[in-house]
Amino acid sequence: MKVLFVCLGNICRSPTAEAVLRHMAAQAAPEVDWLVDSAGTHGYHVGAPPDPRSVAAAKRRGIDMSGMRARVFEHTDFHRFDLVLAMDEVNLAHLEAMRPADARAEVGLLMDFAPRLGRRDVPDPYYGAHKGFEEVLDLVEVAVDGLIAEARARWRGSRAG
Ligand code: 4NP
Repeated sequence: MKVLFVCLGNICRSPTAEAVLRHMAAQAAPEVDWLVDSAGTHGYHVGAPPDPRSVAAAKRRGIDMSGMRARVFEHTDFHRFDLVLAMDEVNLAHLEAMRPADARAEVGLLMDFAPRLGRRDVPDPYYGAHKGFEEVLDLVEVAVDGLIAEARARWRGSRAG
């Protein structure tokens, strides 16, 4: 199951989702063969580590974001991943506009895996208060839980077939 999370800068929301999925999947779905990555639609922060506010918020929940570096979304990502999940509708529109007809990846929104929250976007915390980073984690944790359930079902299906 190859999953790529995409936000604007790849320093706040999408690396948080990447780290949360790694963390939760190791416990909840070790049987699934995961490849997890993240990227930004824009290259403002290429090569930079995640925002220290994201790193600190994740660390308080026992989630490690060390060693991560921002990269920009590349066209080949449409062919390398099963799922490309945007963190908000602006990022999704950007991806849809680039998507080739023969893309392998399904392209969608992370928050669609948390229907009970009734949210489409993980709000951009970059220019806001610290509590924005907690909200990112709160939303991402619920959606990643739903994503893991979906991945486990697909994985079982692919083994059974
Ligand atoms: P992200 O947050 O898309 O969640 O990584 C942002 C990071 C940087 C900027 C905007 C959003 N920026 O404008 O530099």
